[in-house]
Amino acid sequence: MITKKLFDQYDGKDIYAYTISDGIEVTVCTLGATVLAIKVPNSSDEMTDVVLGMTNARDVIEKGDYMGAVVGRCANRIANGRFTLNGVEYFLAQNNGNAHLHGGIVGFNQKVFDASVDGNALTLTAISPDGEEGYSGNLTLTVRYTVHDSTLKIEYFAQSDKDTLFNPTNHAYFNLNGENDGSILDNYLQLNASHYLQIDKDLIPTTRCPVDGTPFDFRTLKPIGRDIGQDDPQLDIAGGYDHNFCLTAHHAALAYSPKTDIVMNVFTDMKGVQLYTGNFLSGNVGKSKYGKRSGFCLETQFYPNAINRDDCDKPILKAGEKFYSRTLFSFLCKKLNIG
Ligand code: GLA
Repeated sequence: MITKKLFDQYDGKDIYAYTISDGIEVTVCTLGATVLAIKVPNSSDEMTDVVLGMTNARDVIEKGDYMGAVVGRCANRIANGRFTLNGVEYFLAQNNGNAHLHGGIVGFNQKVFDASVDGNALTLTAISPDGEEGYSGNLTLTVRYTVHDSTLKIEYFAQSDKDTLFNPTNHAYFNLNGENDGSILDNYLQLNASHYLQIDKDLIPTTRCPVDGTPFDFRTLKPIGRDIGQDDPQLDIAGGYDHNFCLTAHHAALAYSPKTDIVMNVFTDMKGVQLYTGNFLSGNVGKSKYGKRSGFCLETQFYPNAINRDDCDKPILKAGEKFYSRTLFSFLCKKLNIG
């Protein structure tokens, strides 16, 4: 079932919030195709809202730290905002030090999407014009959110009229204890990744390293907070986890809260996932007050700065080609044996 409500107004336009229900209740608004809430049944037979979110359009844009939004054209950082494609050097907006971050100053997270509904699927479409933020090509993005049997499927469809870069993701911050809990350090996490990308001081990925024997080893389920305080230069740079993990399976991650017994499984066709532990959060706005480490993100994507790396697929979208990618967030309530 899908219901629709007026959420707010932005840029002279009405912004609607749609709630899609089938086991879980997912609320998405047309500004930034932003996920505002995901309510999941917990072990007390109540609904727990497991994502951080804002309550009005202005905060979504100005104070939301990309919470729940679709980001792009290119998620994550591109070093110096520069890359070369077909022998042409492109200069993108530098909105994070020297780097280009999450599509630039005006990315898809700030666009008002057109919406249509079909059964339990919400389809949202927006356009990024040729040259926007330095990217080539008129690019049309369609994001389809479908909820079925407690699973949220996010599908990305895109096309451009010139060769360009494209690497979208969703920037939801999760706390399986509930969005108002304040800390994700006792949420458990398992990542199917035996390597991660180290970062430089500007948080741009450098070397691909084995997770073995490091705080980045999430191959077996452990609390996010178990190793986050270790004396490790990589954790120091980012103030916690803000790193790309190199996935070895479509089943990217499992997260679990012993407080609610909510389990989240993440599946994706992407090769990378950015684990970000909300190290920069400091907001006093939103459904609750969100401080440092009150949410964690699992942003599925091509490796960050892939266009400037030689060891991975590059997010090049050729003129006229159809881009497709999907990520699923699947929920259940089950007590796990965490030993
Ligand atoms: C990403 C980045 C972080 C931070 C957040 C937004 O996930 O990796 O470093 O910029 O977005 O606050």
